[in-house]
Amino acid sequence: MTSSISRRLSRVALAATMTLSATWALSEPLATLYGQTPIVIAHRGASGYLAEHTLGGYELAVKMGVDYIEPDLQLTKDGHLVAMHDTTLTRTTNVRSLFAPRNGSYRVSDFTLAEVKTLTVVPVGTAATTYPGFTPGSADPFRIPTFDEVIDLAQQLSASTGREIGIYPEAKQADPAMEDKILATLIARGYTSSSKVFIQSFSVATIKSLHDKQTALGLDFQLVVLGSTTAILNTGLDAIHAFADGVGVSIRGSNMEAFIGNAHAAGLLVHGYTFAEDEPVAALAQYDQFFRWGMDGVFSNYPDLAVQARDELVAAQVPEPASAWLVLLGLGGVAALGGRRRSAPAARRDGSLLAA
Ligand code: G3P
Ligand code: CA
Repeated sequence: MTSSISRRLSRVALAATMTLSATWALSEPLATLYGQTPIVIAHRGASGYLAEHTLGGYELAVKMGVDYIEPDLQLTKDGHLVAMHDTTLTRTTNVRSLFAPRNGSYRVSDFTLAEVKTLTVVPVGTAATTYPGFTPGSADPFRIPTFDEVIDLAQQLSASTGREIGIYPEAKQADPAMEDKILATLIARGYTSSSKVFIQSFSVATIKSLHDKQTALGLDFQLVVLGSTTAILNTGLDAIHAFADGVGVSIRGSNMEAFIGNAHAAGLLVHGYTFAEDEPVAALAQYDQFFRWGMDGVFSNYPDLAVQARDELVAAQVPEPASAWLVLLGLGGVAALGGRRRSAPAARRDGSLLAA
């Protein structure tokens, strides 16, 4: 009897020790630049599910829990910023059925805002026109939105969700007029240096210019230079840090772990594009790998998966136990962690993973 109790106590002690060890191991700080929680950016909205760069797609992404929505920006003929990735309207809209070509093409810059507003954005790739369990708040959710309308949505959803929905606009043209309009719009809409705003561009000259312009205005929006690992390294991490806060890097580069470490050493955030894996188990493993390498943010086409991976990583960062009681409580936590499966969220397409 005594022996039995002794064995059981030994097992409990061993389990507690293992739990303590496991807890210490899990308490390693995140490898992000400041140990901060990585962010999830809705790449062109929830673009794997709904038509890209639409109010419907951005809203779905917010419902899935993203931190930022990403409008790529183009300028219309009459000088309005609209959310559109391509320089032309053909791939993502029904423009061909409504208009003849102009100057041999369908460039956004050859159409007025009024004309652009007559177009419908069509889904491409795995995107669809509906998502189960999701009803867009906008009455007309699949038009090309202006930058102002994207901001309206972000601000409305910030109010309704109680969490600040960040915006991550990309200047798609290396055009000083576009820089001015982006800054003017942000200022007019009440954004400040402490707002959740990143401005990004593949053009180093554009980011440098934005840095100089906003400094002159007394502003400090976070700036991100985009590119491949090669392009970024050719510009130079230290050089970029002189005028930007981070780099947005293609995740197709080699030696990504070393790249992230070197960028951090230069003081730069690292956001990766584009996470486009839709098979849940493979996607979760991919996010987990990049997060463990210290990636500070991910541009995702399937943001529910990115949020799930990020949240699981954060949940594993259990605090150091302060007492034996917490150690014992930790036993339950270890059991729960051990029992958790990286299950494919088979229900996600029925909308069951949408936040309230
Ligand atoms: O801006 C990051 C990422 O979106 C770059 O790719 O071509 O989708 O704008 P792209
Ligand atoms: Ca982009």
